[in-house]
Amino acid sequence: MLKLFRFASQDMAIDLGTANTVVYVRGQGIVLNEPSVVAIETINGVKRVKAVGDEAKLMMGKTPDSIEAIRPLRDGVIADIDVAEEMIKYFIRKVNGKPSIFSAPEIVICVPSGSTSVERRAIRDAASNAGASAVYLIEEPMAAAIGADMPVTEPIGSMVVDIGGGTTEVAVLSLRGLAYTTSVRTGGDKMDEAIVSYVRRHHNLLIGEATAERIKKDFGTARAPADGIGHTIHIKGRDLVNGVPKEISINQGQIAEALSEPIGTIVEGVRIALENTAPELAADIVDQGIVLTGGGALMQGLDEHLRDETGLPVTVAEDPLTCVAIGTGRAMEDPVFRGVLLTA
Ligand SMILES: Nc1ncnc2c1ncn2[C@@H]1O[C@H](COP(=O)(O)OP(=O)(O)O)[C@@H](O)[C@H]1O
Ligand SMILES: [Mg+2]
Repeated sequence: MLKLFRFASQDMAIDLGTANTVVYVRGQGIVLNEPSVVAIETINGVKRVKAVGDEAKLMMGKTPDSIEAIRPLRDGVIADIDVAEEMIKYFIRKVNGKPSIFSAPEIVICVPSGSTSVERRAIRDAASNAGASAVYLIEEPMAAAIGADMPVTEPIGSMVVDIGGGTTEVAVLSLRGLAYTTSVRTGGDKMDEAIVSYVRRHHNLLIGEATAERIKKDFGTARAPADGIGHTIHIKGRDLVNGVPKEISINQGQIAEALSEPIGTIVEGVRIALENTAPELAADIVDQGIVLTGGGALMQGLDEHLRDETGLPVTVAEDPLTCVAIGTGRAMEDPVFRGVLLTA
């Protein structure tokens, strides 16, 4: 009976990332892409949501004591379930408007493959509470692989490496299933932290994470430039010795040095996955190569570096930052993928 009214619903696919949440609406594509950040204000001991998404991220590192900018999924696990729930509800309502029984949408949410059943239940409940008529989950590597047009429904092994903010998920897929998966707690955040600590150690300068992230995106590279130096940039922060603002210069060779540890951890994760892959699937990966998704895939030179380290072909998905949301959306829209959706 309710099916009659289904035309009014906005069925949604949500990539709930540690850094960014991306929402895809059936028949429309991506309609929202905002940081997974919530600013919480505490007044007289009572907490309330002050801002979510873009607006909340702008507040990070700049909030007064009464406001806290939280990334509820920071390390790939749900660090703060209540805040995560507020965030999920906020984004769903932003896209869907006020929920009504006539327009209750179906929602597919992409979750990290390493998330626990308690975390999955919490995510599902948040979506239900926000007005979903049915909630399905999909594991992130599967969504990434579908979004990257990999042959997930065929008996062909393929490997996807999704480098997000909090984690890197490495998975081998075949026949609509995950044949092997591992989650490494190193991603874009660890790269930002590595830049912060490099600048502190070598220049006695304290910079914020937002500054480090900008440096990483604009000048970060997985391998040192040919001349060892590349571009030189100026960065501002607070001098650790006398406490005043100061500016220093740093070159791309030094940034590559700073990034070498987190990048090494990611390469190690890929190597472990390859070692644990059944021989027949491993043979397929030699032909198919490795596909990189997630924002970290945009790191300059990372594909070549991984190619050198593994000897395998490595490609970057077409739009790494939205690939998972697109894959989640396709899994929702195309009956071919129905079997990859999880109901529990
Ligand atoms: N051009 C770039 N170079 C390197 N890292 C990038 C670039 N663009 C985005 N990132 C990083 O990608 C991460 C976000 O990727 P995303 O796939 O959205 O993560 P998640 O799925 O965990 O939300 C952030 O750490 C961000 O700094
Ligand atoms: Mg992601």
